Amino acid sequence: MQLARRVLEVKPSPTLSISSKAKELKGRGEDVINLSVGEPDFNTPEYIKEAGICALKENFTRYTDTSGTGELREGISQKLRKENALTYSAEEIIVSTGAKQALYNAILVLCDPGEEVIIPSPYWVSYPEMVRLAEAVPVILQTRNFKVDPEELKKVITKRTKAFILNSPANPTGVIYRREELKAIAEIISRHNVYCLSDEIYEKIIYDGEKHISIGSLNNKIKSLTILINGFSKSYSMTGWRIGYAAADKEIIAAMKRLQSHSTSCPNSIAQKAALAALGGSQSEVEIMRKKFEERRNFLIEKLKEIERVTFPTPEGAFYCFLSHPKITNSLSFAEKLLEKEKLAVVPGIAFGKEGYLRLSFAASFGEIEEGVERLKKFLKTV
Ligand SMILES: Cc1ncc(COP(=O)(O)O)c(C=O)c1O
Repeated sequence: MQLARRVLEVKPSPTLSISSKAKELKGRGEDVINLSVGEPDFNTPEYIKEAGICALKENFTRYTDTSGTGELREGISQKLRKENALTYSAEEIIVSTGAKQALYNAILVLCDPGEEVIIPSPYWVSYPEMVRLAEAVPVILQTRNFKVDPEELKKVITKRTKAFILNSPANPTGVIYRREELKAIAEIISRHNVYCLSDEIYEKIIYDGEKHISIGSLNNKIKSLTILINGFSKSYSMTGWRIGYAAADKEIIAAMKRLQSHSTSCPNSIAQKAALAALGGSQSEVEIMRKKFEERRNFLIEKLKEIERVTFPTPEGAFYCFLSHPKITNSLSFAEKLLEKEKLAVVPGIAFGKEGYLRLSFAASFGEIEEGVERLKKFLKTV
């Protein structure tokens, strides 16, 4: 069979494949601890589910506007104004099937073949693959202490640079960018008219009293170059509902709408009603989940400190810990053996472009976190 070159070059998502391997083992009755997952383990809050049920009962089951219902885009517009100090009209917003589709559509409408997209490493697994699918070129930028060094950023910008991907809070490291750091990045990319794809999907999962800052809120110039990407998956524990969105200049959003009209038409109508309820309801459940993540993070950090020579940046947001140990030389084979021998599923650092590391998710119970760290400790003694 001769498949298109486009798809032959794309690797499957390693996070999803490790998770499904762990699920398969679990299904066979194995005692697997799965710390590879990239989704909250909480149920979608009741008031959001109720809105979904209500939408069904009221037969809100037909195509909506390609870019999402007007009421949801209006709701997102208000949220961006209130929480992110950003003014976007409903025409400057598109709702998609998850943040993933919003991001992919943005890359497809921005990049011509051969144009470059700068991706700081370690990166979320899908960024380079999406760029390749657009026949653009991912330019991997090594970071310092897991954050972009402005001097290094300057060096990789060329005439072909079209966009830069920013992810704060970041997957897999959990680092967040502070205002001054964002200003330095914004200044450089604005000077070169490089677009900023700002993936803010973890904005509400943030610790130690820190506050998320949207790069587009810094000034009008960077706002005009920013495509903000966000969604409901992580904040509201709604991964399976598949609702994400992008906010950007009207022309970019209109192009994304044209593209979306020929691929998925519109996002799921029922899920859109649920998303609207998520925005409109009390945000106390979001805060309850955030607090639980923070407690689990603290617990995981304490447990990991018991393992000699393990190092990691303190996760300031998201729900991952990106750790290294001198014995993790080949992270893929380390993770495979760890799953095989100790039945502990984690994601190898190489999946995020960084060898020598593992990503542990703390979207898990205290018991699973404790047992997971015990298994890692035990395994490290045998290799
Ligand atoms: C950094 C990052 N961006 C985007 C996404 C995609 O989110 P969604 O479920 O809305 O497609 C994920 C999901 O794991 C992620 O980690």
